[in-house]
Amino acid sequence: MDNNIQLELKNVTTVYGNNKMLLDVSIKIPKGECVCLLGNNGSGKSTLIKSILGLVKIIEGKIFFQGEDITGEKTYKIIRQGISIVPEGKRIFPKMNVLDNLRMGAYKDTDKKEIEKRYEPVFQIFPRLKERLTQVAGTMSGGEQSMLVIGRGLMSNPQLMIFDEPSFGLAPVLVQETFNIIKRINDSGITVFLVEQNAHMTLKVSHRGFFLQKGQIIASGTSDKLKDVEIIKKAYFG
Ligand SMILES: Nc1ncnc2c1ncn2[C@@H]1O[C@H](COP(=O)(O)OP(=O)(O)OP(=O)(O)O)[C@@H](O)[C@H]1O
Ligand SMILES: [Mg+2]
Repeated sequence: MDNNIQLELKNVTTVYGNNKMLLDVSIKIPKGECVCLLGNNGSGKSTLIKSILGLVKIIEGKIFFQGEDITGEKTYKIIRQGISIVPEGKRIFPKMNVLDNLRMGAYKDTDKKEIEKRYEPVFQIFPRLKERLTQVAGTMSGGEQSMLVIGRGLMSNPQLMIFDEPSFGLAPVLVQETFNIIKRINDSGITVFLVEQNAHMTLKVSHRGFFLQKGQIIASGTSDKLKDVEIIKKAYFG
């Protein structure tokens, strides 16, 4: 067993009904790195995340978190090991205020003192949230809501943070800011698994990546090398 691997998928195949979606997918995410998963619409990116979280049926293969087999575990148990997910879309609790939304991120912890300590680092990354603690989250702007979702993810003190298309639907200036924030989070020591369609920005912040097509990994390598892989150039860089 390799102690430097945070998360590993080993020959994973999943199904929706009778249809195989992921086919023999193998991925290694080294501790402390930012690893990306690129792929077009419908290629199976979100399915891959769901397979990590125990939300889709795995018919072959195994998934390991820090060397421990988590295949088929219950989702809450998987999350509890130290995984935080920033899902597709902006899934805040719209009727709760900002502070309560953040607190929800730490719901699995009971040590109040420990939870209190987690706000300040979040506010350092997102000063705006600190200014808006009592604002009803549903009235925040789109960009603010995406900050809140990431902030909430940080409140669980994760070792691995998974982002599902965080730049989707954001204005260009916010896209840049979102990638800066992801880089900061990774620089703080949290392993990042970044699922994206914005290959240009993603390959700038990630160390290495995988390219998914129709449920199969068809290219992988360091981000520098991936930029020059013909199939990715065609798909993303014209
Ligand atoms: N619960 C489900 N039942 C049946 N098919 C599903 C289910 N969820 C997803 N699919 C199908 O599996 C394929 C992969 O979906 P997935 O959401 O993983 O794609 P994606 O790469 O995340 O795409 P996008 O970039 O559009 O988010 C799609 O064809 C989708 O319609
Ligand atoms: Mg998706």
